[in-house]
Amino acid sequence: MTRIGIKDVQAMKPRGDKIVMLTAYDYPSARIAEAAGVDMILVGDSLGMVVLGYDDTIKVTLDDMLHHTKAVVRGTERAMVVTDLPFMTYQTSVEDAMRNAGRLLQEGGCQAVKLEGGVHMAETVRRLVQVGIPVVGHIGLTPQSINQLGGYKVQGRTPQEAERLLEDAVALQQAGAFCIVLETVPAPLAELISQRLTIPVIGIGAGAACDGQVLVWHDLLAYQTSFLTRHIPRHVKEYAHVGEDMQKAIEQYAAEVRNGSFPTPEQSFQMNPEALAELSEAQP
Ligand code: KIV
Repeated sequence: MTRIGIKDVQAMKPRGDKIVMLTAYDYPSARIAEAAGVDMILVGDSLGMVVLGYDDTIKVTLDDMLHHTKAVVRGTERAMVVTDLPFMTYQTSVEDAMRNAGRLLQEGGCQAVKLEGGVHMAETVRRLVQVGIPVVGHIGLTPQSINQLGGYKVQGRTPQEAERLLEDAVALQQAGAFCIVLETVPAPLAELISQRLTIPVIGIGAGAACDGQVLVWHDLLAYQTSFLTRHIPRHVKEYAHVGEDMQKAIEQYAAEVRNGSFPTPEQSFQMNPEALAELSEAQP
């Protein structure tokens, strides 16, 4: 089966075909996403929060990303796999960016990398693309700068901020990014940026006019541990409640173990009665 490549993704925009991107972090989730027909799988550094239990994406390492990318790649044949360059693996120098992005492609097996930042990352993007590493840009709410941004807030609300975001988007396109992710910006601004760019704009919390959408696996499926108390971000639509279903299933299992109703003979292995009789007669 041929994998979706950057040309396929870019050809979707003029056709008006919406690009479907979803995060995945392991082999079974990658297989399910692929079977469901997702175009692009993002091994997002959101894994720091939803898989590893950190408060933010800052602590995620390149080794974490490599480990999860390998599993996702093993679970896919058709979907394009994009992996996030984690915090401080590309901001330090163009050389670091090249080395670390190269490792994600070479050892991890993904087809492209994503990095956060606009104008100030353009030179890095240009050099990565020059050596054959496809890049997805990421602007708007950039979680690796959460300490600078002061929280997960809507970006680009003032004319100055909106202008800066437009400049960032154009700079990424000019540097050779094959598409961008636009996170948590007002829908009209996302529409304007999508219209101005020739490369696809994939939105998250950026309204319906983007060329595609991305969601985090755990958000889409409500795969959370504390399902009774969790905060549901505004941009999220929960299409299932697997966390709740899983917890209920495990509670039932625990109850049945405790009351002796699991396992039944159906889940047990039997023995030849003669062999059993022989054993009972034998002296220990
Ligand atoms: O890490 C991630 O999952 C992301 C998406 C939110 C776009 O960057």
